Amino acid sequence: MELETTLRGHTVQNAVREVGINPNHWYPVSWAEDLKPGAVIPVKVWQQPIAVYRDVSGHLYAMEDACPHKGVEMHKGQVKGDRLTCPYHGWEFDPTGNCAHIPYFPEGQKLPCAQAKVYPVKERYGIIWVFPGDAALARERSLPEVPEYDDPNYFMIPIPGHFKAHFSICNENTMDVFHGYLHENLQGWFNPELLKLKESDDSIQAEYRVYYKGWITKVLGLSTDGGVTTRQVSIHYQYPHYHSSMEGVSSLYLMRLPVGPQETRSFSMLFLRLPFPQWLVNPIRKPLMPLIRERFFMPFLMQDVEMMESEQVNYNRNSKRRYVEINPAIIALQRVIYRQYTQFLQQSSPQSRLETYQAKNGNGSSLSAETEQGSVPTGISVDSSRV
Ligand code: FES
Ligand SMILES: [Fe+2]
Repeated sequence: MELETTLRGHTVQNAVREVGINPNHWYPVSWAEDLKPGAVIPVKVWQQPIAVYRDVSGHLYAMEDACPHKGVEMHKGQVKGDRLTCPYHGWEFDPTGNCAHIPYFPEGQKLPCAQAKVYPVKERYGIIWVFPGDAALARERSLPEVPEYDDPNYFMIPIPGHFKAHFSICNENTMDVFHGYLHENLQGWFNPELLKLKESDDSIQAEYRVYYKGWITKVLGLSTDGGVTTRQVSIHYQYPHYHSSMEGVSSLYLMRLPVGPQETRSFSMLFLRLPFPQWLVNPIRKPLMPLIRERFFMPFLMQDVEMMESEQVNYNRNSKRRYVEINPAIIALQRVIYRQYTQFLQQSSPQSRLETYQAKNGNGSSLSAETEQGSVPTGISVDSSRV
């Protein structure tokens, strides 16, 4: 659905800051190179602790990070073949999560039924992905398409991000091209305009026009003399991840991991079409990657991090306070995030709703699924009158 691009005042309620995730999507949990064969690491998707391990032949497995015997964290254990062994009593769990061996159990006797939850897991784009929701849906949900990943004309820079803020705050920052003001001292873009805006059930597509000048235009190959130049920026939010691109220059994928209500991580890939030939770039590819990341990208990101975390600080002080937004792309984005969560709650079983509640709060033991459903805010109320 095409939306109006006019900037005007909306009073936004903060329901979007309270929502959980729709777990029926693939979420990135680690850079693939950080998990060596035979090793196990702890990760968290919306407060669900998961132990991800790799056997010596490179296969990946993901299991809940709690031993079915007494609850010890499984990531403290060891990988034995394709099994994960708990460090406490040595119980071994196979890739289906079944207890397959207890070192002190009488031979010939049937093992107790002790089952750990397992998760679909895969590796793509140098990232490990986990599907925390209904495993039966994992096959039909695809990973984001990243055609630049295998295109030798692009130079890829992986960028990690870690924010002490709710994922809605982080996602709004990416959609919000009007904050070029913040990056003024870094020669960020200026005079942004929202040209087009589309919303679907699970996505937002926004087209902006921005202007650049100064040294950054030379670095990016936008101009030779540093004069004013204009470019179109496309931002595509496909719940729960992002792709933004600047025509003919760069492409940025932000794969989001909501860790908890006030913690989000990002596994981002920046692709640059450098204004140099491949043969010149290839030998210096390795040292160039951190150089571009640290010198050009991180200063921008650090400014953003400060703003996002500052928003969260004041939200924590007063969650009832009303805020004013004038960018319709942000309002549309909030609708998508809110809708994905409520649709998940409506479509899922009481058990998974309860699990989501527990995941969200870290402690849902005394609450029923019905309580959770009842606690969901009734909607993002948008007062579209001018303010
Ligand atoms: S707690 Fe894991 S084997 Fe006992
Ligand atoms: Fe920014």
